[in-house]
Amino acid sequence: MNSEVRIPAQELAKLRVSATRLEANLEEARQRLAALQVVHEVAQSVTSELNLEPLLHKIVSAAVEVMNASAGSLLLLDEFSDELVFEVIEGGAGGELKGVRIARNKGVVGWVATHRKPLIVDDVNKDNRYYQSIAQSFGIEPTSLLCVPMISRNRLIGVLEVLHSTPGRYFGELDQQLLTTFANQAAIAIENARLYESLKRERDHLVVVEDEIHKRLARDLHDGPTQLLASIVMSLNFAKELMNRAPELVPEEIDESAAVAERALKQLRTLLFDLRPVILETQGLFPALELYAERLQETEQLNVVLTTTHEFARLSSRAEVAIFAVIQEAVNNARKYAYASRIDLILDPDEDNDILTVSIKDNGVGFDVQTVKGRYDERGSLGMINMQERADGVNGTFKIRSEVGKGTEVTLSLPLSENLRNSEDE
Ligand SMILES: Nc1ncnc2c1ncn2[C@@H]1O[C@H](COP(=O)(O)OP(=O)(O)OP(=O)(O)O)[C@@H](O)[C@H]1O
Ligand SMILES: [Mg+2]
Repeated sequence: MNSEVRIPAQELAKLRVSATRLEANLEEARQRLAALQVVHEVAQSVTSELNLEPLLHKIVSAAVEVMNASAGSLLLLDEFSDELVFEVIEGGAGGELKGVRIARNKGVVGWVATHRKPLIVDDVNKDNRYYQSIAQSFGIEPTSLLCVPMISRNRLIGVLEVLHSTPGRYFGELDQQLLTTFANQAAIAIENARLYESLKRERDHLVVVEDEIHKRLARDLHDGPTQLLASIVMSLNFAKELMNRAPELVPEEIDESAAVAERALKQLRTLLFDLRPVILETQGLFPALELYAERLQETEQLNVVLTTTHEFARLSSRAEVAIFAVIQEAVNNARKYAYASRIDLILDPDEDNDILTVSIKDNGVGFDVQTVKGRYDERGSLGMINMQERADGVNGTFKIRSEVGKGTEVTLSLPLSENLRNSEDE
């Protein structure tokens, strides 16, 4: 007897269809895996590029290659104007599109940027979002396209677009998924490259600033104290000779030398006062003050406490330098004369009244401000004069309150808005 199970022909046909479908699915999965592998490899090679311009070119070339497209372009979002800017165009003759701006609500790219969703257009001529004038500049006649947003850490960086120019060729679901994955990795690479470039710019700036400071210091030392010291040496040698020939003239000669030495001392103090840490220029007032307070704590065991009531924007170089200089002088005074157990540095920006108040308070011995001011000319000191001048330079006011036995408070107040940083300061 034949025990073979007989499957009805109809069932058999169904099974065959299922098998074919499964095979097709398997094949599609294989293709998808292979394509993902390629995208992954390409993304890896792209992300190792740290220079922005070559990176953008690599991204577009890779997208065109992986998608087997005729052309591609990448537009970055200009957050300031909320426009998309053509950065790289590959394929065709679209070079002249570089730098062209598209409003965020215009065209296919605008739609993708606004909705943060990918878009496939099978026939560009039938999609009214498609920008015909841009298409003409492309130098090829696109038929279908795929455009995806580039998103990094939930921020839209730009859009990436690939195009076919052969009728009958379309982008599919798989292409869309692959390009989206790739675009998001590329977006991270772009952010890294931007960060790297801004660090490089900062470093270059730092080098220039440092160089200028060195040059200025060398020139000032040469023109000022060095000359004065040379003249003191000559004068002292002369005094030695006078000892034998005309001893009665020696005191006068020494008095003159002493006066010159005093001038040299004043100049050196001013120079020291002018020397500012580079971090003030590069990172701004607050980081510079943090570092300053930290150093005083470490090297002099001074209890310096820095507080700010609110955050505030960066100020002009002039204002930041002035504030730092006043703080530095006030802290130096507290350090030298106050015998304080604590020094407070308080920044209090009041945007409603457009005023920044900077206070330096110590809990030391205090002094009689009127007496010191009354005899100021005789002292040869510069501290208070310099602080007042710094305040004048930023349209601010400078006050000292002190009480013997209670401590001293130095206050600098300046208008905020007119001392904000503008492009000239950068
Ligand atoms: N925080 C303070 N506590 C106690 N006395 C102070 C304080 N700040 C200033 N003084 C007194 O005021 C005087 C004047 O200070 P100022 O900074 O103008 O000059 P200086 O420190 O003597 O000299 P320079 O600043 O030119 O090195 C000081 O000599 C000191 O007697
Ligand atoms: Mg002083």
